[in-house]
Amino acid sequence: MFYKILVFLLIFAISSTASSKPCVLKSFNTGLVCVCNSTYCDTLNFKLPVKIGDALIISSSKSGLRFHESHAKFNESINRIPHGPFHYGNGNSDTSSRYLNKIIKVVKKFEGIEEPLDNYVNIMVNRSNKFQKVIGFGGAFTGSVSYNLKQLPKEVQEHIYQGYYSKEIGIAYNMMRLSIGGCDFDLSPWAYNEEPVHDIFLRNFTKLDDRDIEKIHQINELKKITKNHDFKVFGAAWSPPKWMKSNNDYTGFSVLRDEYYQTWADYHVKYLELMAKNGLPFWAISTGNEPLNGLIFPRMVPFMSLGWHPMLQGIWIADNLGPAMKKSEATKDIKILAGDDQRFTIPTWLMLMDKARKNVSDFIDGIAVHWYADRIASTEFLDMTADMYPKKFIISTEACSGFDRTESNKIDFGTWHKLEDLVLDVIEDFNHFVTGWVDWNLVLDEFGGPNYINNFVDAAIIAAGSEIYKQPTFYGMGHFSRFIPEGSVRIRAKSSSKFVKTVGFLRPDGYTVIILYNLADISIIAKISDKSIGSLRLEIPSKSLHSIIYKS
Ligand SMILES: *[C@@H]1O[C@H](CO)[C@@H](O)[C@H](O)[C@H]1NC(C)=O
Ligand SMILES: *[C@@H]1O[C@H](CO)[C@@H](O)[C@H](O)[C@H]1NC(C)=O
Ligand SMILES: *[C@@H]1O[C@H](CO)[C@@H](O)[C@H](O)[C@H]1NC(C)=O
Ligand SMILES: *[C@@H]1O[C@H](CO)[C@@H](O)[C@H](O)[C@H]1NC(C)=O
Ligand SMILES: *[C@@H]1O[C@H](CO)[C@@H](O)[C@H](O)[C@H]1NC(C)=O
Repeated sequence: MFYKILVFLLIFAISSTASSKPCVLKSFNTGLVCVCNSTYCDTLNFKLPVKIGDALIISSSKSGLRFHESHAKFNESINRIPHGPFHYGNGNSDTSSRYLNKIIKVVKKFEGIEEPLDNYVNIMVNRSNKFQKVIGFGGAFTGSVSYNLKQLPKEVQEHIYQGYYSKEIGIAYNMMRLSIGGCDFDLSPWAYNEEPVHDIFLRNFTKLDDRDIEKIHQINELKKITKNHDFKVFGAAWSPPKWMKSNNDYTGFSVLRDEYYQTWADYHVKYLELMAKNGLPFWAISTGNEPLNGLIFPRMVPFMSLGWHPMLQGIWIADNLGPAMKKSEATKDIKILAGDDQRFTIPTWLMLMDKARKNVSDFIDGIAVHWYADRIASTEFLDMTADMYPKKFIISTEACSGFDRTESNKIDFGTWHKLEDLVLDVIEDFNHFVTGWVDWNLVLDEFGGPNYINNFVDAAIIAAGSEIYKQPTFYGMGHFSRFIPEGSVRIRAKSSSKFVKTVGFLRPDGYTVIILYNLADISIIAKISDKSIGSLRLEIPSKSLHSIIYKS
C-alpha cells in the first residue's frame, strides 16, 4: 500500500486561540492522517468556558479539521465552524447564514435512505431527563501493542501514551483491556501452565510470563509520563492451556473439560493475584472472550478461543468462578462481566445462564458487548437487556474496523468512513444504555498486525517506521473520551434530522457535553436548544464531528 502514497505535509493551524499543538496532516489517496515523530506530536489542550452561555466547540472533519477549537455564545448569531484545508462536499461551503431558514432539498443516498434533506436541524436538550451513568473509554494493550511499542523510538512511545491517557494533552482514556494469556494479537498462542499437563493445582503457574512483565513495565512508563494512575484495567481470557479443552488445541471447536471447571476458575484468580502483586490490580474480568467462536464459528475464527454453551457457562460462573473470586482477598471486589460477545447474543445468553443457575446474577456486575455484528443486530438487543437486567451495566469492550475478511485493505490510511462507522456506533450505543466504549489494539503496524494468524485489522494509531500515524478514528474516540469523564450521566438530546446524530451528557462538574455528527455532504445549521440557557446556532461542515461543552 505504500507505493500509492502521495506525500505532502503541511502544518494546519486555522485556529489561533487553541493552545493545543496542531496536527501535522499527511495526505494519502485514502484520506488524511496526523503524523507524529520523535520531536513532534499534536496535543489537545483547552480551557473550559467559565460563563453560563459560553460554549467551547472542538471539531474534526473529513476535510482536515482535527480537534479544531472554536468558541460560541448561546442566543447569538450563527457561529460558523470552518471547513478543513482539504475541501470536501458539494460546493455548499460558503452558504453561511444566507441559507438560514431556507430549505435546500437534496436527495441523499446513505445506506439506502433516500429523503429530502433539510439543512436546518434542531437539537433539543433536556438536562432533567437522565439515563445511565458513564464508566469510560479505553483501548486494548495486547501482545502486539507491546511489541509495536518496543519497535518505536522512546519519544514516540511517549507520544502514544500521552495521546491516549493524558488528561491534560491527550484524549484521557480511563480504561485498558488486557488478554489473560495470549490472544490473536500476539506473536504466538500461549497460556499459563501449558506444562505440566492435567495439573489441576496449576503448580507451574507461580509467576507471570515475561510478556506480562514487559507489558507491566510499559504500562508503568505510561503512568509515569501521563501522570494518569487511576485508569481501570480489565481482562479476558481467549483460551485455557490446551489440556483443559475438549479438542486439546488453542483453536477450533472446543469446550472446557468437565474435570477442569474449578481449575479454570482458579487460573483466573491466580492471574489476578499475580497481576496485583506485580503492581497492576484489576477492576474487572469478563467470563471469556467471544464464547461463541469456539462453539459455532470455529471455521470463521481461526485464533485462540474457548467455546461455551451459555447454560454451562452459567454453571461455571455460579459454582466455580464467582465463589473462587469471592474467596480470595485479592479478587473479591473485582467485577465480573458476562457475555463479551456480539450484540445479538444478549439477552438470550444471560437468560440461558439464569436458567441453569438462578444465583448466577449474584456474581455478575456488568454485561460486555462487541460491535462486529452491530450492522445486523438492532439496538433492541441492548434495550431488552437494559430492561431485563436494570442493575447490570452494559459496556462495549471491543471494536475495530478492517475486521471483515473480504476487505483487501485492512488498513486504509486516513479513511474517514471508518471514523464515521465508529462514531455512529458509539452514539447509538450510548443512546441505548451502554456505559463505556473500549477500542481494540491501541497501536498496530502498517499491515494491521502483528497477528499470529494473519487476522489483520485497523487501529487508531499505526506505527510506521520511526513515526506514527493517528488515524481519524483516534480523533473519533477522543471526541467522546476527553469530554465525557467517568460519572457523567447521559441526558436527553434529540436531533430532528437523520443526518445529524447526537448524544448528550451532564458531567459531574456540572458542564453539559453535546456530541454532534453531520453525516450529510453539505453544511448544516444546527440549533441546540437547552431550555434555561437558550439556543446555540452552529454551522457545521459536511462530514464533521463536534464536542460542544457549556456550563449549565
Ligand atoms: C518531526 O516533525 C516535525 C513537524 O512536522 C518536523 O518539523 C521535524 O523536522 C520532524 N523531525 C524529524 C526528525 O523528522
Ligand atoms: C437566552 O434567551 C433566553 C430566552 O430569552 C433566556 O431565558 C436565557 O437566559 C438567555 N441565555 C443567555 C445565556 O443569555
Ligand atoms: C424534561 O425531562 C423531564 C424529566 O423527564 C420532564 O419532566 C420534562 O417534561 C421534560 N421537559 C421537556 C420540555 O420535554
Ligand atoms: C513449567 O513451565 C515452564 C515454561 O513456562 C516449562 O519450561 C517447565 O518445563 C514447566 N515445568 C514443568 C514441571 O512442567
Ligand atoms: C448457586 O446455586 C447452586 C444450585 O442452584 C448451588 O449449588 C451453588 O452452591 C450456589 N452458589 C452459591 C455461591 O451460593
